[in-house]
Amino acid sequence: MQTLGIDLGSSSVKVALVDHATGQTLADAQFPDQEMSIDAPQPGWAEQQPDRWWDVLTQALRRLAAKHSLRDVRAIGIGYQMHGLVCVDADGNALRPSIIWCDSRAVPYGEGAFQNLGPDRVLPRLLNSPGNFTAAKLAWVRDHEPDVYARIDKIMLPGDYLALRMTGETHTSITGLSEGIFWDFQDHRAADFLLDEFGFDPSLLPAAHGSFGAYGQLRAAVAGELGLPAGIPVTYRAGDQPNNALSLNVLEPGQVAATAGTSGVVYGVTDQVKYDPKSRVNTFAHVNHRPGEQTRLGVLLCINGVGIANAWTRRLTGATDYATMNAAAAKIQPGAEGLRFLPFGNGAERMLENKHIGASLEGLDLVRHGQAHVYRAVVEGIAFAFRYGVDLMREVGVRPELIRAGYANMFLSPDFRQTVATLLGSRIELYNTNGAVGAAVGAAIGAEFKQADEAFANLRVLETVTPDTGTQEVYETAYQEWKSLLGKRLEGV
Ligand code: XUL
Repeated sequence: MQTLGIDLGSSSVKVALVDHATGQTLADAQFPDQEMSIDAPQPGWAEQQPDRWWDVLTQALRRLAAKHSLRDVRAIGIGYQMHGLVCVDADGNALRPSIIWCDSRAVPYGEGAFQNLGPDRVLPRLLNSPGNFTAAKLAWVRDHEPDVYARIDKIMLPGDYLALRMTGETHTSITGLSEGIFWDFQDHRAADFLLDEFGFDPSLLPAAHGSFGAYGQLRAAVAGELGLPAGIPVTYRAGDQPNNALSLNVLEPGQVAATAGTSGVVYGVTDQVKYDPKSRVNTFAHVNHRPGEQTRLGVLLCINGVGIANAWTRRLTGATDYATMNAAAAKIQPGAEGLRFLPFGNGAERMLENKHIGASLEGLDLVRHGQAHVYRAVVEGIAFAFRYGVDLMREVGVRPELIRAGYANMFLSPDFRQTVATLLGSRIELYNTNGAVGAAVGAAIGAEFKQADEAFANLRVLETVTPDTGTQEVYETAYQEWKSLLGKRLEGV
């Protein structure tokens, strides 16, 4: 039995074909090779065209088909960039570009609703301020683009849109509604009181179901374009962070997953209702949350400016690849000889209470510091941001002692993974999986080809990283300096 996994990221679409008899990944592919663009028509905005996602998906599938026949695919799973807003008309056409996760324009809408409704009412039900999430983004469209708003038939998350194009059916998931801050965790249904506050008609939301299960079949009209058999079902969908956790078999309380792609995330599963009253870290429904039966929530720390900061540095310095940058950075001593980098240049940062302070290099010595120092400072600055955020998770009661991550993106940098492990005092296990493989595993569970406990038989640790006592002190000192620089920047906004 073969399933296809799709991981719709902000910088590319990754696809993987998994054989569930052997548990092996038969082939995987990605498109495009260089990071997909994010449009920012105004400062702080971030948009992508849903049509472009579809286009990129077809190209990624073409690459996959060149490696292995897709004739025997029996189910499809989708992981996708979270919190984006896609608005479609009654024919399923996207009415405007998607306002994606790192777009900051909706902050005043979310915070306004939080104040109007009152934290005592909002927090126990939504577990978060509406902040800068999908519901707040829709409120912006309502106010600024009334013509578009009037034509909306349904709103959805990016993965729901791909599923709609595939199947012609509009669905979303409970995790999806929770990541949009539309889900009421007390009443186990869409949060009417929030819809009322924003003046949204409840019919704008698609029907929501669990992450697993057959919801729509691939239409003959698009099967040819995608190179897939017509009629196969979409059996799994989840935001990329819960999906990353699934790919790593992080499903039970106390387990923690991480990613360091465009954004950096630490995601801890809990069976207790835990949330940060300041919404600096967020709580969403995990893929195995069963309302009223089994509480499985993910406490999520997101840092917007992670891989995107490294990619920016690569482009700016004309480096051919990340391995070259990592090798140059490795020659510089821990602490980057005093050069500090604040990686906060990709929109409002949730862990900084939705402040948008920009990225900056601090302490630049034009005589001593060169390109390699910048490479090192960027990697360290991102690791410092992880430490800062994980300290907030600890306040909420999530203590990552062991973190599982895919052997991918910034975890490919030896200095990055070592610095994070040392700064957090945590062990990091790197596995032979990724979001596309995770989505394929999710599809197999959703199609009932596999039970969750046998779906991970092929998961292997490729490397374990433990805190390095030799550099702990120097990193701790550098971190405290970095934190005080951050404090000064925050005072200024
Ligand atoms: C998580 C988040 C990002 C996006 C990136 O809350 O906003 O990690 O999901 O795709």
